[in-house]
Amino acid sequence: MLAVAVLAAGKGTRMKSDLPKVLQPLAGATLVERVLASCDQLKPERKLLIVGHQAERVEQSLAHRPGLEFVLQQPQNGTGHAVQQLLVPLKDFNGDLLVLNGDVPLLREQTIAHLLERHRSCGAAVTLLTARLADPTGYGRVFADSDGAVSAIVEHRDCSEEQRNNNLTNAGIYCFNWPKLAAVLPQLSTDNDQGELYLTDTVAMLSPAMHLEVADADEINGINDRLQLSQCEAVIQDRLRRHWMAEGVTFVDPASCTLSDATSFGRDVVVEPQCHFRGEAVIGDGCRIGPGSLIDNSRIGDRAEIIYSVVREAVVARDCAIGPYAQLRPGAELGEGCRVGNFVEIKKSQLAAGCKVNHLSYIGDSELGENVNVGAGTITANYDGVNKHRTVIGAGSKTGANSVLVAPITLGTNVTVGAGSTLTKDVVSGALALGRAKQLVKEHWQPPAAQS
Ligand code: UD1
Ligand code: CA
Repeated sequence: MLAVAVLAAGKGTRMKSDLPKVLQPLAGATLVERVLASCDQLKPERKLLIVGHQAERVEQSLAHRPGLEFVLQQPQNGTGHAVQQLLVPLKDFNGDLLVLNGDVPLLREQTIAHLLERHRSCGAAVTLLTARLADPTGYGRVFADSDGAVSAIVEHRDCSEEQRNNNLTNAGIYCFNWPKLAAVLPQLSTDNDQGELYLTDTVAMLSPAMHLEVADADEINGINDRLQLSQCEAVIQDRLRRHWMAEGVTFVDPASCTLSDATSFGRDVVVEPQCHFRGEAVIGDGCRIGPGSLIDNSRIGDRAEIIYSVVREAVVARDCAIGPYAQLRPGAELGEGCRVGNFVEIKKSQLAAGCKVNHLSYIGDSELGENVNVGAGTITANYDGVNKHRTVIGAGSKTGANSVLVAPITLGTNVTVGAGSTLTKDVVSGALALGRAKQLVKEHWQPPAAQS
């Protein structure tokens, strides 16, 4: 039997933020989501989250995760006090308790599984994860013998000068035999520099207490301030880029690009410098992205090219060319082989295959049939100040430069719109539509004489 408890009640004073620390985002997911995800694979019988500071906000952020039990810790009097709150909900529980710090987000699933295995094979009362850090400042120091038996953990601020030289560091990740821990939890005292109840003090009260040292010390990085947040972001970004390079993606300048966990790439994609992928960004085979593009929650078909552009919640079919300087906003859907050029914005519109919107246009709430050619500066005037209206343009139609299509409006197929037209009425298929003043030419025009 396994229960997992995540400590997430602390305020995170050192972040200097209005957001509770465990809700700080890291590569698109919050710290606490990452910590919870790292033990999903173990399929624990119980999953408990200890909340306190801004408890409601933390609970709301996790409302989509089933089977989480929220346990309130009020006030927050230390990590030992946090785990004391489990004495009631786990009263009849008779298995192992895995305790994870909500601010240690880089742990790998295999590492946790390995910790649990070691704990069970040793029959330990507690097994904790450790690492040797080059700079262990701020972390608890673990005192252990060469067989891995732990005698005590001393917090950095409670250490003597000599104890600080020990760089065996407590990760804040523990496997406890719950009945044994439950028996000693009430004995914790606040006799330390912070006047708090420390979970780490239970280790000296339990026997046998063992530790497992992780090979990759990055995994135990704890986040207490913005510097550590940025360092963890760098580790995650590096892991993601390495993964995708191994899968056949070229990054011209990897360090200048950022990815999310849910970003995915086909084969032979080239990512040029300064590109950013967020949310579920799904990039097809043979695409060329960048330089300088942001792709957020969008699907990009095979062989598409996107240069210096922003694509958000949009769908781009194969062989499209976007940019430079285009913006595809939510609900933009481009069929195969479309071309969207510079200073073009497309929102909530479907463009069928082969459409061209090459220069300086706004297309919103619109539906374009195949091979529509939108002339430079064409605007769909979709908003009357109160409501949004639709524009429909049939296949094969062409709009001249600087046309304004005042919605709601429907143009049939193969319509030609003369340059500079403002159209307010529907146009039948095959027609030429002009909506502009007739050109007036006055020959031999004498300009007025200058006044003295
Ligand atoms: C803790 C450990 C330290 C370890 C380090 C690893 C203790 C006493 N110290 O120190 O040995 O090296 O983690 O990162 O445990 N929390 C609560 N309720 C509270 C206080 C904290 O739920 O009353 C939660 C926090 O939200 C956080 C976690 O516990 O997720 C750790 O708390 P934090 O104050 O960051 O502990 P550290 O000082 O980092
Ligand atoms: Ca911490």
